[in-house]
Amino acid sequence: KNDLNLSGRGGKKIIILGAGIAGLTAAYELGLAGYDCTILEAKEFAGGRNWTIRKGTSVAEIGSGRQTSRFDNGLYFNAGPMRIPQFHVTLDYCKKFGVAIEPFNNVNESGYYYNENVGALSGQRVPKRAAKADVRGYVAEMLAKAVNQNALDLPLTAEEKLKLVDYLKAEGDLNPDLFYKGSERGGYKDEPGSRLDAGVLRDPFDLKAIIHSGFGKYFSNEYSYDQQMMMFHPVGGMDAIVKAFEKRLGNRIKFKSEVKEIRQSSSGVRIVYKDGNSGKDQELRGDYCICTIPLTVLKKIPADFSPEMSKAISSVGYASAGKIGLQFKRRFWEEDDDLYGGSSLTNMDITQIYYPPTDYFGKKGILLGYYAYGGTADKLGGMSYAERERLALTQGAKIHPQYPKEFEASYSIDWKKTKYQEGGWVSYSANDRKTYYPTLCKPDNRVYLAGEHISYITAWQAGAIESAREVVTDIHKRVMKA
Ligand code: PHE
Repeated sequence: KNDLNLSGRGGKKIIILGAGIAGLTAAYELGLAGYDCTILEAKEFAGGRNWTIRKGTSVAEIGSGRQTSRFDNGLYFNAGPMRIPQFHVTLDYCKKFGVAIEPFNNVNESGYYYNENVGALSGQRVPKRAAKADVRGYVAEMLAKAVNQNALDLPLTAEEKLKLVDYLKAEGDLNPDLFYKGSERGGYKDEPGSRLDAGVLRDPFDLKAIIHSGFGKYFSNEYSYDQQMMMFHPVGGMDAIVKAFEKRLGNRIKFKSEVKEIRQSSSGVRIVYKDGNSGKDQELRGDYCICTIPLTVLKKIPADFSPEMSKAISSVGYASAGKIGLQFKRRFWEEDDDLYGGSSLTNMDITQIYYPPTDYFGKKGILLGYYAYGGTADKLGGMSYAERERLALTQGAKIHPQYPKEFEASYSIDWKKTKYQEGGWVSYSANDRKTYYPTLCKPDNRVYLAGEHISYITAWQAGAIESAREVVTDIHKRVMKA
């Protein structure tokens, strides 16, 4: 992490484009170092993709009418970032700002897998713990037997084979003969209790049904470095981070200021923006510019960039992503299913459901009714708000039959259709990283790019923060040298 204890020989004026997490971080750190900075923000509110939907949130997607949230006071859902790995710099800012955090349950064995058109287990909701016990059991059994029958061409000694089989026995909960016959890990059909009630274990699914189900492919969702527990989120909504920055920035953010032109010379930058209050174009001059505008939006803004920079900006793709929040009268996932946070995964369009990792035992709750990526997100994004709601309810009801009875209100987001964002997160191919990324990382005369797209922590707030910190450090070094 960069040392930003900059001794304030400020006075230089920095214009920051965008009050998302990158812009807020840059303004905050530059402010500490004594720089004069102004953030131009096109929207009426700060945060960018860090966006918490609450009662009264009211925005029109590109090409659609206004959608107004009818959620109850106090309930919310995070339309953008919703979880923070323990090791991300984002948590350092939470700590510094006194933003209270609580665990985000990214893993919960009581969640379900539900797939359609996959053979015997089609249309059955299966607790994750059951699917995991069976897949691991059978795979361990097959592998242990293969090792013992010398069926694998392994350069292992007899002792090593014993040790490997020992491991597989533990991994799969195999019996002494190396058979998987079910495991308490998968849960019970009749829970154990007091006195003579030993309970009854569930029966394992058969091997073929489990293979056809495709459930095994879901397990690795929890394994990737940045999805591993523990994860956290701010109490009360992800925008607590935005509010904490805003409190420290005073009136340095100019809202409803849409950037129209980015101009620069050897002596300074000049930003033309439309002032939303007067409706007139205005101009702001400064020494340097930090541009955090997503590339999908930036590529349409006339700017004095070098040809390489312009080419890089317009060549990079963004991922699609969409979410819907569903408010229910009753937390039936907790009350009926003993399910507190975590997710269910499915091959239906809704892709996944996340149960609120907050306010357990609360009266009502908002769950994440879908979180889709790629082509599925585009398909949902192409629907009207009402159609998205209908799809989320119809498909979700297959996993939770309580849906129709308990549903109250929804709010959905398609990030490609969200004005001034136009994408979920940057999506670099290996070739983009080689060809365009180095250019994006370098200052173009007096304009520096920052944001999750200028990092290897793409799709995370930490990428935005780290890149902003690095740009601030660069600008300061340049100022001190000049
Ligand atoms: N950071 C986003 C999320 O947590 C996007 C993402 C999804 C990143 C999956 C990595 C893996 O949902």
